[in-house]
Amino acid sequence: MTAKHPTGVRFGRLLLTGAAGGLGVQLRPRLKAYCETLRLSDIAELGTAGPGEEVQPAALQDRAAVHALLAGVDAVAHLGGVSTEQPFDVILQANIVGLYNVYEAARRHGVKRIVFASSNHVIGFYRQDEVIDTRVPVRPDGYYGLSKAFGENLAQFYWDRYGIETVSVRIGSSFPEPKDRRMLATWLSYDDLERLVVSALTAPQVGHTVIYGCSDNTTVWWDNTGARHIGYRPQDSSERFRAALEARQPVIDGRDPAAVHQGGAFVTKGPFED
Ligand SMILES: NC(=O)c1ccc[n+]([C@@H]2O[C@H](COP(=O)([O-])OP(=O)(O)OC[C@H]3O[C@@H](n4cnc5c(N)ncnc54)[C@H](O)[C@@H]3O)[C@@H](O)[C@H]2O)c1
Repeated sequence: MTAKHPTGVRFGRLLLTGAAGGLGVQLRPRLKAYCETLRLSDIAELGTAGPGEEVQPAALQDRAAVHALLAGVDAVAHLGGVSTEQPFDVILQANIVGLYNVYEAARRHGVKRIVFASSNHVIGFYRQDEVIDTRVPVRPDGYYGLSKAFGENLAQFYWDRYGIETVSVRIGSSFPEPKDRRMLATWLSYDDLERLVVSALTAPQVGHTVIYGCSDNTTVWWDNTGARHIGYRPQDSSERFRAALEARQPVIDGRDPAAVHQGGAFVTKGPFED
């Protein structure tokens, strides 16, 4: 079931990158309600185009393919890229070169709004006993988090220099349900993901706005006050999963870096040897 969003805004053509991924598969049927045509892209198999869909595979590091991808598009939900901690060279192609290609293509084709799937790993080295807002200095917890921090800076630059608007969504943990106690704070339900992406696509003025992507959880590390103009109102909460998760994980080792920092286990990944 898709969440109901109050805006009646409909785009002509929306582009969804990473459409074959975990979140792309969720957003594919949901975003159709907000556009005449949904263009889907990935390097993984996307199946055949359904009604109102266009399938256009592209590797993000392939500049010509990405430039063709942005042609005729009104707005972009950019979810494509490497979504886990990996050696730098892997991250570099998809998340850094690839993101540059997306923004240059947007500039050339006059695309004015991008929703960028950033990540909590941009701020992963803040502690779990801190509540941070959207303006704190970044503290990436690996090459993946660094690439998302680059993406947020790139978005800021393309807004300041070229007037392309971006909402950088620092997604927490978007899965069917929270998998561990950390995710009681970081969980983003799929319905709230839809609410957030649609709000970010349709809010009248966003400039470059950073927003944390989490549901209305009881345990809170992130303060979205600075992004209230986006109009995102989460309606789900991880609380209903708490008892089962605490029973499964009754004790937390307070010396474990993954239990100390907001980025969880990502803070312990690496080093990667060449
Ligand atoms: N799921 C979460 O909880 C979460 C949390 C934080 C951030 N994010 C971000 O949200 C986005 C979607 O996350 P997801 O969980 O669906 O990840 P995912 O890994 O399931 O999907 C990413 C998609 O990008 C595609 N991709 C990878 N490299 C590519 C390339 N070089 N060119 C074109 N396509 C490429 C993959 O094939 C994949 O289908 C990602 O950008 C991720 O970093 C997700």
